[in-house]
Amino acid sequence: MTRVRFISADGADIREVDAESGQRLLEVAQAEGQPLEGTCEGQMACSTCHVIVAAEDFGKLPPASDMEEDLLDLAANVTRYSRLACQIRLDEALDSLTVRMPGQSRNMLGR
Ligand code: FES
Repeated sequence: MTRVRFISADGADIREVDAESGQRLLEVAQAEGQPLEGTCEGQMACSTCHVIVAAEDFGKLPPASDMEEDLLDLAANVTRYSRLACQIRLDEALDSLTVRMPGQSRNMLGR
């Protein structure tokens, strides 16, 4: 089991959930009703699964691929701790992972 903490974009809502090791963060987030579209379902063709990882957890993640970095360039509200939730596979090393939703804007045009 891996515990994940989801924080809403405004910080007002914090939800913790236990996930199975091997699950992708995107599917856990969607099952919990978090506002991540994940339009391409992990096919690396959108950036609607963008999350902001807590600074203290960011180094626990394997580095983003070049393709993930390129897609993050298209996402709104990107920070240096941004990642794509479909590319994060949960395991014990990520226990207590905390991620924040980036907010309503979906792309550079603010849509
Ligand atoms: S769901 Fe499309 S890139 Fe993650």
